[in-house]
Amino acid sequence: MKETASNDLFSTKVGAIAAAAGSAVGLGNIWRFPYVLGENGGAAFLIVYIISTILIAIPVLLTEFVIGRKTNLPVSGAYNSLAPGKWWNQIGIIGVLCAFIILSFYNVVAGWTMCYTVRSATGALQGLSEDAIQQAFVSLSENPWECLIWMVVTIVASAFIVSRGVKRGIEWSSRILMPLLLLLIIVVCVRSLTLDGALQGVKFLLSPDFSKITPQSIFEALGQSFFSLSIGMGTMTTYGAYISKKQNLTSCAFSVAFVDFVIAFLAALMIMPCAFACGINPGSGPGLVFVTLPNIFNAIMFGQAISFVFFLLLFIAALTSSVSLLEVIVAYFMNEHSFSRRKATVVSAILIGIFGTLCAFSKTLFGLFDNFSANVMLPLGALFIILFAPLILGRRAMRNELEAHGGKCKLFGFYYALVRYVVPIAIVIIFANCILSWMGVKMFA
Ligand code: PHE
Repeated sequence: MKETASNDLFSTKVGAIAAAAGSAVGLGNIWRFPYVLGENGGAAFLIVYIISTILIAIPVLLTEFVIGRKTNLPVSGAYNSLAPGKWWNQIGIIGVLCAFIILSFYNVVAGWTMCYTVRSATGALQGLSEDAIQQAFVSLSENPWECLIWMVVTIVASAFIVSRGVKRGIEWSSRILMPLLLLLIIVVCVRSLTLDGALQGVKFLLSPDFSKITPQSIFEALGQSFFSLSIGMGTMTTYGAYISKKQNLTSCAFSVAFVDFVIAFLAALMIMPCAFACGINPGSGPGLVFVTLPNIFNAIMFGQAISFVFFLLLFIAALTSSVSLLEVIVAYFMNEHSFSRRKATVVSAILIGIFGTLCAFSKTLFGLFDNFSANVMLPLGALFIILFAPLILGRRAMRNELEAHGGKCKLFGFYYALVRYVVPIAIVIIFANCILSWMGVKMFA
Protein backbone atom coordinates (compact mmCIF):
# COMPACT_ATOMS: atom_id res chain seq x y z
CA MET A 1 0.00 0.00 0.00
CA LYS A 2 1.27 3.48 -0.85
CA GLU A 3 2.54 5.33 2.22
CA THR A 4 0.35 8.42 2.61
CA ALA A 5 0.22 10.73 5.60
CA SER A 6 -3.37 9.84 6.41
CA ASN A 7 -3.37 6.07 6.63
CA ASP A 8 -1.66 6.42 10.00
CA LEU A 9 -4.30 7.67 12.52
CA PHE A 10 -4.26 8.83 16.13
CA SER A 11 -5.07 5.71 18.14
CA THR A 12 -7.24 7.20 20.88
CA LYS A 13 -9.32 10.26 21.62
CA VAL A 14 -6.88 11.33 24.34
CA GLY A 15 -4.06 10.96 21.83
CA ALA A 16 -5.89 13.06 19.24
CA ILE A 17 -6.65 15.77 21.80
CA ALA A 18 -3.10 15.73 23.14
CA ALA A 19 -1.66 16.09 19.63
CA ALA A 20 -4.03 18.90 18.62
CA ALA A 21 -3.52 20.62 21.98
CA GLY A 22 0.22 20.14 21.49
CA SER A 23 -0.08 22.06 18.25
CA ALA A 24 -2.24 24.76 19.79
CA VAL A 25 -0.20 25.29 22.94
CA GLY A 26 3.10 26.90 22.06
CA LEU A 27 5.02 30.15 22.02
CA GLY A 28 1.69 31.78 21.21
CA ASN A 29 0.35 30.96 24.68
CA ILE A 30 3.40 31.42 26.85
CA TRP A 31 5.50 34.02 25.08
CA ARG A 32 2.97 35.99 23.00
CA PHE A 33 -0.31 35.92 24.96
CA PRO A 34 1.01 37.50 28.20
CA TYR A 35 2.73 40.40 26.44
CA VAL A 36 -0.14 41.09 24.04
CA LEU A 37 -2.45 41.01 27.04
CA GLY A 38 -0.12 43.36 28.92
CA GLU A 39 -0.05 45.82 26.04
CA ASN A 40 -3.82 45.77 25.58
CA GLY A 41 -5.07 46.48 29.07
CA GLY A 42 -5.10 43.11 30.85
CA ALA A 43 -8.56 41.94 31.92
CA ALA A 44 -10.47 43.89 29.23
CA PHE A 45 -8.41 42.19 26.52
CA LEU A 46 -8.97 38.86 28.23
CA ILE A 47 -12.74 39.28 27.87
CA VAL A 48 -12.50 40.17 24.16
CA TYR A 49 -10.14 37.23 23.68
CA ILE A 50 -12.57 34.81 25.32
CA ILE A 51 -15.49 36.07 23.19
CA SER A 52 -13.40 35.83 20.04
CA THR A 53 -12.31 32.29 20.95
CA ILE A 54 -15.84 31.04 21.65
CA LEU A 55 -17.74 32.73 18.83
CA ILE A 56 -15.11 32.79 16.08
CA ALA A 57 -12.09 30.57 16.70
CA ILE A 58 -13.80 27.40 18.01
CA PRO A 59 -16.23 27.24 15.04
CA VAL A 60 -13.24 27.57 12.67
CA LEU A 61 -11.37 24.85 14.56
CA LEU A 62 -14.37 22.52 14.36
CA THR A 63 -14.81 23.26 10.66
CA GLU A 64 -11.17 22.43 9.98
CA PHE A 65 -11.60 19.11 11.83
CA VAL A 66 -14.75 18.39 9.79
CA ILE A 67 -13.06 19.04 6.44
CA GLY A 68 -9.93 17.09 7.39
CA ARG A 69 -11.77 14.04 8.66
CA LYS A 70 -14.38 14.08 5.90
CA THR A 71 -11.72 13.96 3.20
CA ASN A 72 -9.16 11.99 5.21
CA LEU A 73 -6.59 14.24 3.55
CA PRO A 74 -4.14 16.82 4.88
CA VAL A 75 -4.70 20.48 4.03
CA SER A 76 -2.74 20.26 0.77
CA GLY A 77 -5.25 17.77 -0.66
CA ALA A 78 -8.45 18.23 1.34
CA TYR A 79 -9.84 21.38 -0.30
CA ASN A 80 -8.74 20.28 -3.73
CA SER A 81 -10.52 16.94 -3.39
CA LEU A 82 -13.82 18.61 -2.53
CA ALA A 83 -13.63 21.32 -5.17
CA PRO A 84 -11.22 20.05 -7.84
CA GLY A 85 -9.89 22.63 -10.23
CA LYS A 86 -11.73 25.52 -8.58
CA TRP A 87 -9.78 28.34 -7.03
CA TRP A 88 -10.72 27.00 -3.56
CA ASN A 89 -7.85 24.54 -3.88
CA GLN A 90 -5.54 27.49 -3.28
CA ILE A 91 -6.45 27.19 0.42
CA GLY A 92 -4.27 24.08 0.54
CA ILE A 93 -1.33 25.68 -1.22
CA ILE A 94 -1.58 28.82 0.89
CA GLY A 95 -1.68 26.60 3.99
CA VAL A 96 1.59 24.92 3.06
CA LEU A 97 3.18 28.29 2.28
CA CYS A 98 1.93 29.69 5.56
CA ALA A 99 3.49 26.74 7.41
CA PHE A 100 6.85 27.67 5.82
CA ILE A 101 6.45 31.32 6.78
CA ILE A 102 5.44 30.62 10.40
CA LEU A 103 8.11 27.95 10.87
CA SER A 104 10.86 30.20 9.64
CA PHE A 105 10.51 32.67 12.53
CA TYR A 106 8.96 30.22 14.98
CA ASN A 107 12.01 27.96 14.94
CA VAL A 108 14.27 30.94 15.58
CA VAL A 109 12.31 31.85 18.73
CA ALA A 110 12.09 28.17 19.71
CA GLY A 111 15.88 28.08 19.33
CA TRP A 112 16.19 31.03 21.75
CA THR A 113 14.17 29.11 24.34
CA MET A 114 16.51 26.14 23.89
CA CYS A 115 19.50 28.44 24.34
CA TYR A 116 17.95 29.90 27.51
CA THR A 117 17.28 26.41 28.85
CA VAL A 118 20.97 25.61 28.47
CA ARG A 119 22.03 29.01 29.83
CA SER A 120 19.86 28.47 32.91
CA ALA A 121 21.20 24.96 33.41
CA THR A 122 24.80 26.15 33.27
CA GLY A 123 24.10 29.15 35.50
CA ALA A 124 25.11 31.60 32.74
CA LEU A 125 22.29 33.98 33.69
CA GLN A 126 22.84 33.75 37.41
CA GLY A 127 23.64 36.94 39.28
CA LEU A 128 23.74 39.13 36.13
CA SER A 129 22.76 42.78 36.44
CA GLU A 130 19.74 44.10 34.50
CA ASP A 131 22.02 45.51 31.83
CA ALA A 132 23.96 42.30 31.52
CA ILE A 133 20.71 40.32 31.11
CA GLN A 134 19.61 42.72 28.39
CA GLN A 135 23.02 42.34 26.81
CA ALA A 136 22.80 38.54 27.01
CA PHE A 137 19.60 38.60 24.97
CA VAL A 138 20.93 41.15 22.48
CA SER A 139 24.10 39.14 22.01
CA LEU A 140 21.98 36.12 21.13
CA SER A 141 19.35 37.77 18.95
CA GLU A 142 21.94 39.87 17.10
CA ASN A 143 24.25 36.95 16.47
CA PRO A 144 22.70 35.15 13.50
CA TRP A 145 25.22 32.30 13.64
CA GLU A 146 24.32 31.46 17.20
CA CYS A 147 20.59 31.73 16.37
CA LEU A 148 21.22 29.43 13.45
CA ILE A 149 22.81 26.74 15.61
CA TRP A 150 19.92 26.71 18.10
CA MET A 151 17.40 26.81 15.28
CA VAL A 152 19.01 23.77 13.63
CA VAL A 153 18.80 21.88 16.95
CA THR A 154 15.05 22.66 17.05
CA ILE A 155 14.52 21.61 13.43
CA VAL A 156 16.36 18.32 13.97
CA ALA A 157 14.30 17.59 17.11
CA SER A 158 10.97 18.27 15.37
CA ALA A 159 12.04 16.39 12.22
CA PHE A 160 12.92 13.39 14.37
CA ILE A 161 9.42 13.35 15.91
CA VAL A 162 7.66 13.85 12.55
CA SER A 163 9.74 11.15 10.84
CA ARG A 164 8.39 8.60 13.33
CA GLY A 165 4.87 9.14 11.98
CA VAL A 166 1.50 10.12 13.37
CA LYS A 167 0.97 7.47 16.05
CA ARG A 168 4.50 6.70 17.20
CA GLY A 169 5.84 10.23 16.76
CA ILE A 170 3.31 13.02 17.07
CA GLU A 171 0.76 11.31 19.32
CA TRP A 172 3.29 9.60 21.55
CA SER A 173 5.38 12.73 22.16
CA SER A 174 2.32 14.91 22.83
CA ARG A 175 0.87 12.46 25.33
CA ILE A 176 4.05 12.67 27.38
CA LEU A 177 5.02 16.28 26.84
CA MET A 178 1.63 17.97 27.32
CA PRO A 179 0.92 16.77 30.89
CA LEU A 180 4.55 17.51 31.79
CA LEU A 181 4.12 21.03 30.47
CA LEU A 182 0.99 21.60 32.54
CA LEU A 183 2.74 20.34 35.65
CA LEU A 184 5.76 22.61 35.12
CA ILE A 185 3.56 25.65 34.48
CA ILE A 186 1.64 25.07 37.71
CA VAL A 187 4.92 24.87 39.68
CA VAL A 188 6.16 28.21 38.30
CA CYS A 189 2.71 29.76 38.75
CA VAL A 190 2.57 28.84 42.42
CA ARG A 191 6.01 30.35 42.98
CA SER A 192 5.04 33.50 41.14
CA LEU A 193 1.77 33.94 43.03
CA THR A 194 3.51 33.69 46.36
CA LEU A 195 5.87 36.62 45.66
CA ASP A 196 5.42 39.83 47.66
CA GLY A 197 3.26 42.23 45.64
CA ALA A 198 1.97 39.51 43.34
CA LEU A 199 -1.64 40.45 44.07
CA GLN A 200 -1.44 43.55 41.90
CA GLY A 201 -0.68 41.36 38.90
CA VAL A 202 -3.70 39.20 39.66
CA LYS A 203 -5.86 42.35 39.89
CA PHE A 204 -4.52 43.52 36.53
CA LEU A 205 -5.64 40.22 35.05
CA LEU A 206 -9.06 40.23 36.65
CA SER A 207 -10.33 43.85 36.80
CA PRO A 208 -11.18 45.09 33.31
CA ASP A 209 -10.64 48.64 32.07
CA PHE A 210 -12.91 48.80 29.04
CA SER A 211 -11.43 52.11 27.85
CA LYS A 212 -8.44 50.04 26.70
CA ILE A 213 -10.55 48.26 24.06
CA THR A 214 -9.83 49.71 20.61
CA PRO A 215 -10.28 48.40 17.04
CA GLN A 216 -6.61 47.48 17.18
CA SER A 217 -7.00 45.45 20.37
CA ILE A 218 -10.03 43.56 18.99
CA PHE A 219 -7.98 42.82 15.88
CA GLU A 220 -5.08 41.62 18.05
CA ALA A 221 -7.43 39.41 20.08
CA LEU A 222 -8.76 37.82 16.88
CA GLY A 223 -5.25 37.21 15.46
CA GLN A 224 -4.08 35.89 18.82
CA SER A 225 -6.98 33.43 19.10
CA PHE A 226 -6.26 32.12 15.58
CA PHE A 227 -2.53 31.87 16.13
CA SER A 228 -3.01 30.25 19.50
CA LEU A 229 -5.45 27.60 18.24
CA SER A 230 -3.30 26.93 15.13
CA ILE A 231 -6.22 27.67 12.80
CA GLY A 232 -6.57 29.45 9.48
CA MET A 233 -3.83 27.60 7.62
CA GLY A 234 -4.79 23.95 7.75
CA THR A 235 -2.80 22.47 10.63
CA MET A 236 -6.05 21.44 12.22
CA THR A 237 -7.46 20.26 8.87
CA THR A 238 -4.42 17.99 8.64
CA TYR A 239 -4.82 16.74 12.23
CA GLY A 240 -8.56 16.28 11.58
CA ALA A 241 -7.61 13.78 8.88
CA TYR A 242 -5.83 11.69 11.52
CA ILE A 243 -8.84 11.55 13.89
CA SER A 244 -10.81 8.32 13.56
CA LYS A 245 -14.52 8.32 12.69
CA LYS A 246 -15.27 6.85 16.11
CA GLN A 247 -14.36 10.05 17.88
CA ASN A 248 -16.67 12.93 18.71
CA LEU A 249 -15.19 15.92 16.87
CA THR A 250 -17.17 18.52 18.82
CA SER A 251 -15.86 17.36 22.17
CA CYS A 252 -12.31 17.11 20.72
CA ALA A 253 -12.52 20.75 19.56
CA PHE A 254 -13.85 21.99 22.91
CA SER A 255 -11.21 20.06 24.83
CA VAL A 256 -8.41 21.49 22.68
CA ALA A 257 -9.73 25.05 23.05
CA PHE A 258 -10.12 24.56 26.80
CA VAL A 259 -6.57 23.26 27.29
CA ASP A 260 -5.21 26.04 25.07
CA PHE A 261 -7.03 28.71 27.06
CA VAL A 262 -6.09 27.27 30.45
CA ILE A 263 -2.40 27.22 29.51
CA ALA A 264 -2.50 30.76 28.12
CA PHE A 265 -4.26 31.98 31.24
CA LEU A 266 -1.83 30.14 33.53
CA ALA A 267 1.05 31.66 31.55
CA ALA A 268 -0.37 35.12 32.19
CA LEU A 269 -0.90 34.20 35.82
CA MET A 270 2.73 33.12 35.98
CA ILE A 271 4.17 36.23 34.33
CA MET A 272 1.96 39.14 35.48
CA PRO A 273 2.35 38.71 39.25
CA CYS A 274 6.12 38.35 38.71
CA ALA A 275 6.21 41.51 36.61
CA PHE A 276 4.25 43.53 39.20
CA ALA A 277 6.18 42.12 42.14
CA CYS A 278 9.42 43.26 40.51
CA GLY A 279 8.12 46.60 39.20
CA ILE A 280 8.32 45.65 35.53
CA ASN A 281 5.88 47.16 33.03
CA PRO A 282 3.51 44.41 31.83
CA GLY A 283 3.34 46.15 28.46
CA SER A 284 7.05 45.87 27.76
CA GLY A 285 6.49 43.79 24.62
CA PRO A 286 8.07 40.66 23.16
CA GLY A 287 11.14 41.06 25.38
CA LEU A 288 8.99 40.24 28.44
CA VAL A 289 10.08 36.61 28.59
CA PHE A 290 13.72 36.78 27.56
CA VAL A 291 14.80 40.10 29.00
CA THR A 292 12.54 40.53 31.98
CA LEU A 293 12.02 37.12 33.50
CA PRO A 294 15.71 36.32 34.09
CA ASN A 295 15.82 39.43 36.33
CA ILE A 296 12.96 37.98 38.31
CA PHE A 297 14.52 34.53 38.46
CA ASN A 298 17.68 36.14 39.81
CA ALA A 299 15.72 37.87 42.53
CA ILE A 300 13.88 34.89 43.93
CA MET A 301 14.73 31.79 45.87
CA PHE A 302 15.44 28.72 43.72
CA GLY A 303 15.51 31.17 40.82
CA GLN A 304 17.95 29.22 38.67
CA ALA A 305 16.02 25.96 39.00
CA ILE A 306 12.77 27.78 38.22
CA SER A 307 14.41 29.49 35.25
CA PHE A 308 15.57 26.14 33.87
CA VAL A 309 12.11 24.61 34.28
CA PHE A 310 10.43 27.62 32.72
CA PHE A 311 12.54 27.75 29.56
CA LEU A 312 12.42 23.99 29.21
CA LEU A 313 8.64 24.08 29.22
CA LEU A 314 8.64 26.92 26.73
CA PHE A 315 10.86 24.83 24.46
CA ILE A 316 8.61 21.78 24.86
CA ALA A 317 5.55 23.85 23.98
CA ALA A 318 7.30 25.33 20.95
CA LEU A 319 8.47 21.91 19.80
CA THR A 320 5.01 20.30 19.71
CA SER A 321 3.69 23.28 17.71
CA SER A 322 6.66 23.22 15.38
CA VAL A 323 5.97 19.51 14.81
CA SER A 324 2.39 20.26 13.68
CA LEU A 325 3.57 22.89 11.21
CA LEU A 326 6.24 20.58 9.84
CA GLU A 327 3.64 17.83 9.47
CA VAL A 328 1.61 20.05 7.11
CA ILE A 329 4.62 20.29 4.78
CA VAL A 330 5.64 16.64 5.14
CA ALA A 331 2.07 15.47 4.42
CA TYR A 332 2.10 17.66 1.31
CA PHE A 333 5.23 15.97 -0.06
CA MET A 334 3.90 12.51 0.86
CA ASN A 335 0.47 12.93 -0.66
CA GLU A 336 1.17 15.16 -3.63
CA HIS A 337 4.61 13.90 -4.63
CA SER A 338 4.50 10.32 -3.30
CA PHE A 339 7.57 10.80 -1.09
CA SER A 340 8.12 8.35 1.76
CA ARG A 341 7.68 9.91 5.22
CA ARG A 342 11.41 9.85 5.82
CA LYS A 343 12.30 11.49 2.51
CA ALA A 344 9.51 14.07 2.91
CA THR A 345 10.79 14.95 6.39
CA VAL A 346 14.39 15.39 5.26
CA VAL A 347 13.42 17.56 2.28
CA SER A 348 11.04 19.68 4.39
CA ALA A 349 13.59 20.12 7.17
CA ILE A 350 16.21 21.35 4.67
CA LEU A 351 13.78 23.80 3.09
CA ILE A 352 12.71 25.10 6.49
CA GLY A 353 16.34 25.47 7.46
CA ILE A 354 16.86 27.71 4.40
CA PHE A 355 13.79 29.85 5.16
CA GLY A 356 14.76 30.00 8.83
CA THR A 357 18.27 31.12 7.95
CA LEU A 358 16.79 34.11 6.15
CA CYS A 359 14.90 35.03 9.32
CA ALA A 360 17.92 34.46 11.55
CA PHE A 361 19.91 36.90 9.40
CA SER A 362 17.24 39.51 8.74
CA LYS A 363 15.29 41.12 11.55
CA THR A 364 13.08 42.87 9.03
CA LEU A 365 12.06 39.59 7.46
CA PHE A 366 11.58 38.07 10.91
CA GLY A 367 9.18 40.87 11.94
CA LEU A 368 7.42 40.83 8.59
CA PHE A 369 6.79 37.08 8.64
CA ASP A 370 5.66 37.23 12.28
CA ASN A 371 3.09 40.00 11.75
CA PHE A 372 1.96 39.02 8.30
CA SER A 373 1.26 35.40 9.18
CA ALA A 374 -0.66 35.96 12.43
CA ASN A 375 -2.53 39.12 11.53
CA VAL A 376 -3.16 38.71 7.81
CA MET A 377 -2.69 35.15 6.57
CA LEU A 378 -4.48 33.31 9.38
CA PRO A 379 -7.64 35.50 9.51
CA LEU A 380 -7.89 35.48 5.71
CA GLY A 381 -7.26 31.74 5.57
CA ALA A 382 -9.95 31.22 8.22
CA LEU A 383 -12.35 33.38 6.20
CA PHE A 384 -11.89 31.16 3.12
CA ILE A 385 -12.22 27.96 5.15
CA ILE A 386 -15.39 29.19 6.81
CA LEU A 387 -16.91 30.20 3.46
CA PHE A 388 -15.84 26.92 1.90
CA ALA A 389 -17.58 24.58 4.36
CA PRO A 390 -21.23 25.63 3.88
CA LEU A 391 -20.82 26.52 0.19
CA ILE A 392 -18.92 23.45 -1.03
CA LEU A 393 -19.38 20.80 1.63
CA GLY A 394 -22.90 21.83 2.54
CA ARG A 395 -24.95 21.73 5.72
CA ARG A 396 -25.94 18.05 5.54
CA ALA A 397 -22.40 16.75 4.96
CA MET A 398 -21.10 18.90 7.82
CA ARG A 399 -23.76 17.52 10.14
CA ASN A 400 -23.11 13.93 9.04
CA GLU A 401 -19.42 14.32 9.73
CA LEU A 402 -20.05 15.77 13.18
CA GLU A 403 -22.38 12.86 13.95
CA ALA A 404 -20.27 10.15 12.32
CA HIS A 405 -19.32 8.71 15.72
CA GLY A 406 -22.95 7.74 16.22
CA GLY A 407 -24.09 10.50 18.60
CA LYS A 408 -26.14 13.64 18.07
CA CYS A 409 -24.49 17.05 17.68
CA LYS A 410 -26.90 19.04 19.85
CA LEU A 411 -25.39 22.41 19.12
CA PHE A 412 -25.34 21.92 15.35
CA GLY A 413 -27.93 24.63 14.57
CA PHE A 414 -26.02 27.20 16.64
CA TYR A 415 -22.67 26.13 15.18
CA TYR A 416 -23.98 26.32 11.63
CA ALA A 417 -25.42 29.80 12.18
CA LEU A 418 -22.04 30.93 13.51
CA VAL A 419 -20.20 29.43 10.52
CA ARG A 420 -22.67 30.69 7.92
CA TYR A 421 -23.12 34.24 9.17
CA VAL A 422 -21.43 35.35 12.36
CA VAL A 423 -17.82 34.24 11.74
CA PRO A 424 -17.36 35.55 8.16
CA ILE A 425 -19.11 38.84 8.93
CA ALA A 426 -17.15 39.29 12.15
CA ILE A 427 -13.80 38.63 10.46
CA VAL A 428 -14.59 41.11 7.68
CA ILE A 429 -15.80 43.80 10.11
CA ILE A 430 -12.87 43.40 12.50
CA PHE A 431 -10.44 43.50 9.59
CA ALA A 432 -12.06 46.52 7.94
CA ASN A 433 -12.47 48.33 11.24
CA CYS A 434 -8.81 47.95 12.06
CA ILE A 435 -7.62 49.01 8.63
CA LEU A 436 -9.90 52.07 8.74
CA SER A 437 -8.67 52.95 12.22
CA TRP A 438 -5.08 52.81 10.92
CA MET A 439 -6.19 55.26 8.26
CA GLY A 440 -7.74 57.46 10.93
CA VAL A 441 -11.39 56.71 10.04
CA LYS A 442 -13.79 55.60 12.82
CA MET A 443 -16.31 52.94 11.78
CA PHE A 444 -18.22 53.12 15.07
CA ALA A 445 -18.27 56.66 16.42
N1 PHE B 1 -0.56 27.60 18.04
C1 PHE B 1 0.86 27.72 18.06
C2 PHE B 1 1.25 28.55 19.29
O1 PHE B 1 0.43 28.98 20.03
C3 PHE B 1 1.43 28.32 16.80
C4 PHE B 1 0.90 27.74 15.53
C5 PHE B 1 0.23 28.56 14.64
C6 PHE B 1 1.06 26.39 15.25
C7 PHE B 1 -0.31 28.05 13.46
C8 PHE B 1 0.52 25.86 14.08
C9 PHE B 1 -0.16 26.69 13.20
O2 PHE B 1 2.38 28.80 19.51
